[in-house]
Amino acid sequence: MQYTFRLMKSIKIVGTGRALPERMLTNFDLEKMVDTSNEWIVSRTGIRERRIADEKTATSDLVAEALLKACKQAGVKPAELDAIIVATSTPDTVYPATACWVQKRLGISGMPSFDVSAGCSGFLFALEIATNLIVAGTAKKVVVVGGEVMSKVVDWKDRSTCVLFGDGAGAAVVVPGDGHCGVLASNWGCDGNLAPLLYQPAGGTRLPTSEETFKEMAHTVHMQGDKVFKHAVRMMAGAALRAIQEAKLDVSDISLLIPHQANTRIMEATRTRLGIPREKMFVVVDKYGNISAATIPIALDEAREQGRIKDGDIVVMTAFGTGFTWAASVLRW
Ligand code: ACO
Repeated sequence: MQYTFRLMKSIKIVGTGRALPERMLTNFDLEKMVDTSNEWIVSRTGIRERRIADEKTATSDLVAEALLKACKQAGVKPAELDAIIVATSTPDTVYPATACWVQKRLGISGMPSFDVSAGCSGFLFALEIATNLIVAGTAKKVVVVGGEVMSKVVDWKDRSTCVLFGDGAGAAVVVPGDGHCGVLASNWGCDGNLAPLLYQPAGGTRLPTSEETFKEMAHTVHMQGDKVFKHAVRMMAGAALRAIQEAKLDVSDISLLIPHQANTRIMEATRTRLGIPREKMFVVVDKYGNISAATIPIALDEAREQGRIKDGDIVVMTAFGTGFTWAASVLRW
C-alpha cells in the first residue's frame, strides 16, 4: 500500500440502507407496452427487470425508508442527524427540496436539509459535501441519500428511454473516522456544454409547463443515447483513474469497484479501461435498471449485506450524469 494517510479525509460510513418498490416490471412486460424485446434490452443494457413505484409514492417516501434503515444500522436516531443531503433529479416538487419533505415525513426538524442536483453523480457529490462538512468539524452525523422515481419522468411510449430506468433509494450515514478509514482521494467535475445531451426540457423557467409541452412530452427524459454512452465511459473511467492516482494506489490494491449502474456495456467499458478484474465489479443494474443517483448507494448497501466489503478494503465508486457531471471516490473502509 502506497497511499498517504496524511491526505486521507477521515470519515466512516456506519450504516447503509435501501428502499425498492415492490412492483417489478420485467423486459417481457415491456414487450407488451412498446415495440421492444427482452433480447434487445439485455444485449444493449444488461437490464432484465426494474422496480416501479406506485401512483402515491414520491421520491421522499423512498428516501425516508432508506434513511431510516441506514440510521437503524448506524444506531443513530434521525433527530440526531446534523444534516440530511438528498441527491435526486426527480424531486417531489420543484420547491422545496425533497430533503424538506423527508423531514416532514419523519417528523423531525432543525438540521440543514437540502438537495443536490447532479444527476447520476448526485450521491458522490453529496458524499463529497458530507465528507467535507465532517472533516471541517461542521457536522458529526450526516446522512447522504440518493433517491429517484424515474418512472414518473419517462415517456412510456418512447422505447429508447423507458426500458432503461427504475425507481428506488439508497442511504449512507457518515461520521468522523478513526484515522484508519476514510476518503483517500476523490475527483468531481462538470461540463455544462454537454447539458443538452440528456435533460428534461419542460417544467422549469426555460420552458414552463403548458398544454403544448405536455402534448410534446417535454416533461420527460430526452437523451441522445449514443453520445451519452461515449462521454459516460470517458468520464467514469477518467474520474476513477485520477482519484486512484491521487491516492497513490495501484489498480491491484482495489477490492471493489462500484460504478454508476447505467448499463452493463458502459460499466464493462469503464472497468476494462481501469484494468480491474470483472469479479471485483459490483453489479445490480440487471435487477433494478438505472436509478440515477440511487444506484451507487443501493449497490453499496447490497455489497455490504453480502459481505463484499471488509474493514481496510479499498472501495472505488465512480459515476457520470446529466450536466454532464462526473465524480469518483476512493474509500478505505
Ligand atoms: N427496443 C428495440 N429497439 C430499440 C429500442 C428498444 N427498447 N430502443 C431503441 N431502439 C432502436 C432505435 O430506434 C434504433 O433503431 P434504428 O436504427 O432503426 O433507428 C436502434 O435501436 C439503435 O440501435 P443501436 O444503435 O444498436 O443502439 P445502441 O447500441 O446505441 O443502444 C442505448 C442504445 C442502449 C440507448 C445506448 O446508446 C446506450 O446505452 N446509451 C447510454 C444511455 C444511458 O445509459 N443513459 C442512461 C442515462 S444517463 C445516466 O445514467 C447518467
